[in-house]
Amino acid sequence: MHDSLIHLSSAGVSLLLDVSGDDLPAIVHWGAALGSLSEDDARMLALAAVEPVVPNAGDVPIRVALLPEGWRGWTGKPGVEGHRDGADWSPRFRTERVTLGGSDLVVTFTEADAGTVVVESEDATAGLHLVTEIELTGSGVVRARATLRNTADDHYDVAALNIAFPLPPNAREILDFAGRWGKERTPQRSALVVGIHEREGRKGRTGADAATVLSVGVPGFGFGAGEVWGVHVGFSGNHRAYAERLFSGVQVIGGGELLLPGEIRLATGEEYSGPWVYGVWGDGLDEQAARIHRMLRARPRHPRRPRPVTLNVWEAVYFDHDRQRLWDLADRAEALGVERFVLDDGWFRGRRDDTAGLGDWFVDEEVWPDGLRPLAEHVRDRGMEFGIWFEPEMVSPDSDLAREHPEWILATGGRMPVLARNQLVLDIARDDAYAFVLERIREVLRETAASYIKWDHNRDLVDPGHGPRGVPGVHGQTLAAYRMMAELKELFPELEIESCSSGGARVDLGVIEHTDRVWVSDCIDPLERQQMNRWTAQLLPPELLGSHVASGVSHSTGRSHTLAFRAATALHGHFGIEWDLAAATPDELHELGEWIALYKESRALMHTGEMVRIDTSDPTLHLYGSVSEERDSALFVLASIGRSEVSPLGRFALRGLDPDARYRVRPVLPGGAPRGLIRPPWFGADDRGVELTGRALATAGLHTPSMHPESAIVLDVSAVR
Ligand code: DGJ
Repeated sequence: MHDSLIHLSSAGVSLLLDVSGDDLPAIVHWGAALGSLSEDDARMLALAAVEPVVPNAGDVPIRVALLPEGWRGWTGKPGVEGHRDGADWSPRFRTERVTLGGSDLVVTFTEADAGTVVVESEDATAGLHLVTEIELTGSGVVRARATLRNTADDHYDVAALNIAFPLPPNAREILDFAGRWGKERTPQRSALVVGIHEREGRKGRTGADAATVLSVGVPGFGFGAGEVWGVHVGFSGNHRAYAERLFSGVQVIGGGELLLPGEIRLATGEEYSGPWVYGVWGDGLDEQAARIHRMLRARPRHPRRPRPVTLNVWEAVYFDHDRQRLWDLADRAEALGVERFVLDDGWFRGRRDDTAGLGDWFVDEEVWPDGLRPLAEHVRDRGMEFGIWFEPEMVSPDSDLAREHPEWILATGGRMPVLARNQLVLDIARDDAYAFVLERIREVLRETAASYIKWDHNRDLVDPGHGPRGVPGVHGQTLAAYRMMAELKELFPELEIESCSSGGARVDLGVIEHTDRVWVSDCIDPLERQQMNRWTAQLLPPELLGSHVASGVSHSTGRSHTLAFRAATALHGHFGIEWDLAAATPDELHELGEWIALYKESRALMHTGEMVRIDTSDPTLHLYGSVSEERDSALFVLASIGRSEVSPLGRFALRGLDPDARYRVRPVLPGGAPRGLIRPPWFGADDRGVELTGRALATAGLHTPSMHPESAIVLDVSAVR
């Protein structure tokens, strides 16, 4: 083999890979672009990255491969963990083949832009074959995935395949997310100290408390500046993400699937692939997020048609599926300009509340004696799409399905798992259970011609034992759910799917390969959503974030908010309504109509533009928006999320605009001025706003209007020609 180095560089990111000799691939540099390199430059960089040998450590420098190897003296978390009845647990792989873009690598140094490197390695002694795929995407996201094959005559138990990306020594501050039902993606910061900061997801779903993007950056990094390196595991089952600092100061971030004991046992010739593990560098959190957003938007199946204004009936009617009420709701929705009507939980047999019915995916004859088709047609006749709720992976003990097929329930130890939301989990990795659910969904979609599924998943997987022996089943269950989504989309090419899981507990890049938006949270209180939307957007662009206007008094928190604050908060996402419109006043309906019109006018900008979140000087002020690709327009929201100890709040600056262009900045106030607004002089006569250059807006800025807490205004920024 050659002493080969590969320099991939795209969108301001460099990935210098060392695939020398027969070693496993290792990263020499991942971060800011290095510019074009000569082979000598690259070799010097590789040499410069070799650490000196210090007393009482190994006699040779430790080389940290993408899957770090114990045999080299690496004492951190290993890349490959597994064994063959206790043997073959510390593999020493030798690389046999390296390809770049599908062609064998024959030179000692290559430069390319975005591309994929595949490294095939073998440990003949341990009887293992390892394939490592490393890709730099066009937007500068690095992703890697490993596949382990058992080449020996007896079985091999895989415990983990961890992918680790190197961190520079100045990355010492961690930002990741915690959360719970109704309060997903709560940011938490901590110092990276010697040891492991490890986030394990053992819920059998991504989890409301998932790390989501685990970043480590230079202390004090913010949205606009400060280098940050982040990792995300693209998987909806059990997973881990971690940051690790060794005694030597060497640091990595990594992750992979979290396998239960014995979950992956490979027979001869069988293989196991871990999920894609994403590494995202940025100078500031906005640049990090923008790389992921651009990567997702470049996918052929990214939802591109305008995101339809959606009315979901859940908080309007809950389980009260009264025909007349729903008909009326559809009429009111049409009058407002709603484009998609989604019937939530409660339409199927026995489902009068959350204690029964899951699994019996037949339209309830008592509630819907004529089936659902008349409602679906009524909705379509009013120019709206029809969507419907399912929870395909779940079963109520009180259901015909559970009574007929108790053996289809994920369980182990000869007992039933503890209930959660009165329900159990269906073992859809079984062919028979899978086929039953798929057939039912297919039938309901055919009958109603629904083009949208809200796909829910309302409990953790506890004791998820698969098949008659109750062997660990999270891996198979997760892949079966993905497979079912993919199969449905093949059967119904126009179908869109929303990933919902007790709100936002299934938000990850694995499920997003099969779905078209996520339900960010069951909590629609705009004060909470200011936080949850802002941080969910660290992973997903606004068009994938289900974002609704609910009733004035939040059902989850009891807080009251103005319509302007509710609607302004929902504006940047995939906008919708989840409110009993029959209870809204004519004034409220009129104002909501204005917000819907603003959303429709601006959605192309918000759903293709670059997200900007401003690091404001006051924590009670949220300022964020989207800047168009051409940088000729932008739409910002200025939201007061509390009361400050100072008033007024001083000036704010706008980032992301063209410094040399002139812009008019003006407030947009659907429904009139929010309560308590004190206009700063720059609003001008008739709120016509002010003209300034992008440079002036980014540096000197504008004075913050004074507002009541928990209110917001929209700022339109348009280039002046
Ligand atoms: C949880 C979801 O997050 C809600 O929006 C709603 O669909 C309920 N499940 C229905 O049971």
